[in-house]
Amino acid sequence: MRVFLAAVAATLALAAPAQAVVGGKPVPQGRMPYVANVQIMGAFGCTGTLIAPQWVLTAGHCGSATGSLSQGLVPAPVAWPASTYLVVVGSVYSDGHGGESHGVRQVLVDSDYVVTNGTGNDVTLMKLDTPTRITPMRIAAVGERSSWKPGVLTTIAGFGKTSQDASGPPDQMQSARVPVTTDAYCAKAYPGGLSEAGDDGSFDPKTMVCAGYPQGGTDTCEGDSGGPLLAPVKRGFRLAGATSFGAGCAQAGKPGVYARLAEGPIREWLKTVVPEAFAPERAKAKKRARTRCTRSRARAHGKRSRVCHRPRRR
Ligand code: ARG
Repeated sequence: MRVFLAAVAATLALAAPAQAVVGGKPVPQGRMPYVANVQIMGAFGCTGTLIAPQWVLTAGHCGSATGSLSQGLVPAPVAWPASTYLVVVGSVYSDGHGGESHGVRQVLVDSDYVVTNGTGNDVTLMKLDTPTRITPMRIAAVGERSSWKPGVLTTIAGFGKTSQDASGPPDQMQSARVPVTTDAYCAKAYPGGLSEAGDDGSFDPKTMVCAGYPQGGTDTCEGDSGGPLLAPVKRGFRLAGATSFGAGCAQAGKPGVYARLAEGPIREWLKTVVPEAFAPERAKAKKRARTRCTRSRARAHGKRSRVCHRPRRR
């Protein structure tokens, strides 16, 4: 985010390559309308995901007025005023054309986005001025946990840079697929303590999940923060993560780190604000007694009916 606030006027002579999120492909207009472009004080800042008709989820460090630890600043759940934000949904273009612009009524940074949690709990919720008719992306149900276990190819998307050295973001949203890593692998990649400054923080499995190839090459990058990590389910996708941080972008051995949205403390916090954003838990297929012997049914079947004399199973 900081990069863009500082570099609004920077020359774009060194145009970014025509693919971004590093190693991705441009998303055609009309696809992924729930991916939000989050502008802060008139400049592109972050990506986000529409999770309910009036709520967009983005990164904590995109909402916290005090900045993030990884920027050498102190994270705190104190948000910038809502009026400094503009959120565009329904457009894959960085200039927002064809999309829907929204002011923001309320900015809520995760109450645990505090210095004692390092770079963890990196989530902000933004309430839009008006509800949108665009279909939100639901956060994965607890029962869908296997859709983002290590090895699963998840989809990442955002308006961020196409390479760590690009001078600015591309003019079209990009997406790519990356496999979820194990927590052990990510802990080795980001072992730094809370005191570590620079672009990488330390991995906390309670509030973070990582994705990327061991050899790198495909990753989120600056500006993708807050954007979605999507887990494949039977019919479509669920939101499982939000882009948080990484060492550079797409480097070998340095997977992207995502806020772990669908379980643990972040899920609990999100539930207190936007319970409607969660995919329903699939009701367990109940073993129904094959026959219910109500009195009227018994009568209908005749007293001796076998169907009706089978014991009820509970
Ligand atoms: N912190 C960055 C942002 O504000 C996101 C960086 C993601 N980096 C990565 N290597 N996956 O946009």
